[in-house]
Amino acid sequence: MYDISNYKIKQTPVILGLESSCDETACAIIRGRTLLSNCIISSAAEQAKYGGVVPEIASRAHTEAVDEVVGRALKEAGMTVKDIDAVAVTYGAGLLGALLVGLSFAKGLAYALNVPLIAVNHIRGHLAAAYLDDPALKPPFITLLASGGHTAILHTQSYTQFNVLAKTLDDAAGEAFDKCARVLGLPYPGGPNIQRAAKDGQANISFPSALVKHSQSPAFSYSGLKTAVINYCHNAAQKGMLVPAADVAASFQKAAVDPLVENTVKFALERGVGTVTAGGGVIANAYLRQRLTEECQRAGLKLVLPQVKFCTDNAAMIAAEGLNKYLSGDFAPMSINAAAQIPLQ
Ligand code: KG4
Ligand code: ZN
Repeated sequence: MYDISNYKIKQTPVILGLESSCDETACAIIRGRTLLSNCIISSAAEQAKYGGVVPEIASRAHTEAVDEVVGRALKEAGMTVKDIDAVAVTYGAGLLGALLVGLSFAKGLAYALNVPLIAVNHIRGHLAAAYLDDPALKPPFITLLASGGHTAILHTQSYTQFNVLAKTLDDAAGEAFDKCARVLGLPYPGGPNIQRAAKDGQANISFPSALVKHSQSPAFSYSGLKTAVINYCHNAAQKGMLVPAADVAASFQKAAVDPLVENTVKFALERGVGTVTAGGGVIANAYLRQRLTEECQRAGLKLVLPQVKFCTDNAAMIAAEGLNKYLSGDFAPMSINAAAQIPLQ
């Protein structure tokens, strides 16, 4: 019988993290804040044929990959399942069928080993990625979160608590990257392809900034920017002009990224918080990384910028957030279900 009522929390536990919310089946193992292995099997190439993630293909790919990815992660860490002190898994947000593959596997593993099951909110995983690059990192810090579903600036006060300082009022930044890529005829995934196209372009087209001008406190909007890019491309095509894809990509990227960077630094200075972190797929963007690094340096702020592989979906961040929850004894019941949506707070 599964019974963890007498479980003793360890200071440096071995945690196995599992992630299957979208198109990556991922498993990682950490000991305390030390990453021992980090494995991913992706169905992105298969999804690219359809121009985006097809949920049923994602679920099927997870069922085929989950056993193998866990085996690889254990092997790379030089461990067997018996060494695992807790199992952390993404329970939401994401594609329901995809989440259920990872969650069911994690439940089975935790049950068989009689160790705690830790249910991780995917977005909190993205926020915890910074601990992987700097294991000594301690809150408080200001965090820029930019993914496919969320865009916000947060004040992280402790390992488990944060305040939202500013957020998007409509689309997420990643969504805008993906839509603009599509209108430019660039393949899925959109973000990295916009980045590639922008390298050869000039930011010489005036698109509306993602910063909402009329709001009392800073807020972002990506739907106006996205529409402006779509209209620009359609108008150019109607006039028989060649759409300058590289310039559109560079101009969009600047309008999307600059306000995020500027306001992250502004909040850190205003609140007297000396450290800035970041998380989410859009933080993989080279222009954003360069701007954030420059602005933090200029402002004398310490920046903990997760490596690109920890920004896009991975299981190391799920294990890292799992540790935060583990140390506060925040374990999930076996009855926990997957959730397609979870509010940021
Ligand atoms: O965090 P993530 O992997 O998944 C979610 O949790 O949403 O973020 C995915 C988003 C996609 O919209 C993708 O286009 C964007 O992150 N992304 C990028 C880059 N790499 C991924 N956006 C801009 N530049 C990139 N290099
Ligand atoms: Zn993600």
